[in-house]
Amino acid sequence: MTQDELKQLVGRAAADYVNAHVPEGAVIGVGTGSTANCFVDALAASKGRYRGAVSSSVATTARLQAHGIRVFDLNEIDALPVYVDGADEIDHRGAMIKGGGGALTREKIVASVADVFVCIADASKRVDVLGAFALPIEVVPMARTAIGRRVTAIGGVPVVRVAKDGAPFITDNGNEIIDVKGLRISDPLALEAQINAWPGVVTVGLFADRGANLCLLGTDTGVERIDFTTR
Ligand code: 5RP
Repeated sequence: MTQDELKQLVGRAAADYVNAHVPEGAVIGVGTGSTANCFVDALAASKGRYRGAVSSSVATTARLQAHGIRVFDLNEIDALPVYVDGADEIDHRGAMIKGGGGALTREKIVASVADVFVCIADASKRVDVLGAFALPIEVVPMARTAIGRRVTAIGGVPVVRVAKDGAPFITDNGNEIIDVKGLRISDPLALEAQINAWPGVVTVGLFADRGANLCLLGTDTGVERIDFTTR
């Protein structure tokens, strides 16, 4: 199967999971990226079961609304039984690198409210040690260079993300992103706490403190279900 077919496979598997485990009338948390898009497209078939969704990006909001799925502001919502999102890397404990699409901050906020985080990914995203994928950090623009120096001090190589026009990539929150290359992240929880404490950091794209509870991994032999709550 191609990577796109694997993404569609896990997108449908996540919709099946949500339909089986989430009560009717609930609001669903929805992530960002090409795999999350597959989930949105699959969920559309059963949209009548749900009150709507909370979205993690402007792009996902547009896709949900195009399917006629109502999008709520997180502030209007008391509970989210589930959050479904992709990842750039996921390790054997359910810790992830996210933010390849630039939506890491809103993704982390929505995930923090959800009871269950379901990660959907194709098999290429499973790793033993996080860090081969450059670690995104959303930063307040005036702190870009200062944070770059701190990144260098911990052995990383900071690269400011640029848009197609060559200008700095700007997030939905009006900030910039530094992608950190060259890290081998043996303690994701500690690194997440360390980087989040740097002044000017909005969010680091390490999801270890709030990792995945479940991963639906698309492989050539089907969907592998990895339950991190039993590990
Ligand atoms: C966006 C993300 C995505 O979940 C991550 O980049 C994976 O994207 P894709 O499903 O397109 O491979 O964190 O900020």
